[in-house]
Amino acid sequence: MAKDRVVYVCEQCGQESPKWVGKCPSCGEWNSFKELRVAPSSPTPRPAHGEADAAKVFKLSDVSSVQDEVRIDMKDSELNRVLGGGMVVGSLVLLGGEPGIGKSTLLLQSVLRLSGVGVLYVSGEESASQLRMRAERVGWHQLSDEVSFVCETCLERVFEHIDRLHPDIVVIDSIQTIYSERVESSAGSVSQVRECAASLLRFCKSAGVGVFMIGHINKDGVLAGPKVLEHIVDAVIQFEGDGRYLYRVLRCIKNRFGSTSELGIYEMAQDGLRGVSNPSELLLNGVQGGLSGIAISCAVEGIRPFLLETQALVSSAAYGTPQRSATGFDSRRLNMLLAVLEKRVGFRLIQRDVFLNIAGGLRITDLAMDLGVIAAVHSSNTDLPIEEGWCMAGEVGLSGEVRSVSRIEQRISEAARLGFKHMIVPRYNLKGLKTAKYDIELHGVDKVEEALRILFG
Ligand code: TYD
Ligand code: MG
Repeated sequence: MAKDRVVYVCEQCGQESPKWVGKCPSCGEWNSFKELRVAPSSPTPRPAHGEADAAKVFKLSDVSSVQDEVRIDMKDSELNRVLGGGMVVGSLVLLGGEPGIGKSTLLLQSVLRLSGVGVLYVSGEESASQLRMRAERVGWHQLSDEVSFVCETCLERVFEHIDRLHPDIVVIDSIQTIYSERVESSAGSVSQVRECAASLLRFCKSAGVGVFMIGHINKDGVLAGPKVLEHIVDAVIQFEGDGRYLYRVLRCIKNRFGSTSELGIYEMAQDGLRGVSNPSELLLNGVQGGLSGIAISCAVEGIRPFLLETQALVSSAAYGTPQRSATGFDSRRLNMLLAVLEKRVGFRLIQRDVFLNIAGGLRITDLAMDLGVIAAVHSSNTDLPIEEGWCMAGEVGLSGEVRSVSRIEQRISEAARLGFKHMIVPRYNLKGLKTAKYDIELHGVDKVEEALRILFG
């Protein structure tokens, strides 16, 4: 029999190397290489000429364009949206997040709501009574009792249960606690995690069962160990949030069956996670009038527009090097916007400390936030508040031009719906737009200076 091959794999980024190295050449992490035994791959037998199950050559026109994947409604609109419209039958989904963020709660409350769908919940972390306690918190008594649970950490045993129960959905909580008897190392090691995930994938595809795997993320925000899993699974969704806030954001990182720009927002309550269908109302606290350093922007994440507050604090730099700090916003982008402010309106960059915060603890990547950031910084710097009822959206370029943004109509409708009276938008976006149908006054601008003149006179 051929001998096992040994390779070394970086726990952080999944880089492989034939020999052990102290520092990963790919991600730069020290001491992250772990030994991994790989069974020799048996050569794929080539199908005999004319054999029926040989892979067929096809033309694109032979394939029907109708999406034929069957999806299971997870009875949770946020989760469904992030998955691209429900759980695809026969797919493997990785749910990542820091310990304590609510991964178990999210999947437990979702599967408890299902009816007519067989579910097996495999818990390697909690005992039966702990599971029951959590189920009671999320209101199990009003929900179905169709879910089967098993507290098991051995993968082979898990497959035995699956063979007996024939579930439609399997939840593995968590992949780091599961081990396979075929691999020698301990549970949670790279080789175990990889082997177990690969077995689960084979199972998913052959049995047509949807599998959710929960994976813990370490403090640096990388899926500990499971980084190597991202290539294997069909979808990676990540649960993010700040312990200080009640809001949790479910973000899609990879999805073979849908878009990755979708975002789900939840609120952690006494009785489980509640989907926030109307994020704007939650993110705006209505105190912006009269305070300087606050601007309201209309951002779009995925296809959903929402309004949120950008808060800035500008103060005289106390030390030689001015401080820059941004929460929820890219700090390099902030530096660029400050440079634009310096060039365009004479903001004295080197004498000022700037702190920026996106309210609610969200992390926003939409470029249409630029204008709001500039307005908030300028407002704090000059101590002039922005009047109530104003909001804005616009990307800012290096020469201070306000560039057009996507989905302008949705942004405007959302702002109008929430009762805003004035909105600053890129002039280019107004071309061909029927402005009369919105109950909001639109101010088109080409340059940052124009926007600031409108806001601050
Ligand atoms: P949990 O789902 O166990 O997190 P994870 O599986 O990601 O480690 O949930 C963790 C936290 O959520 C825990 O600190 C308690 C809190 N929680 C609530 O506030 N309300 C609830 O209804 C539940 C079930 C949990
Ligand atoms: Mg858990």
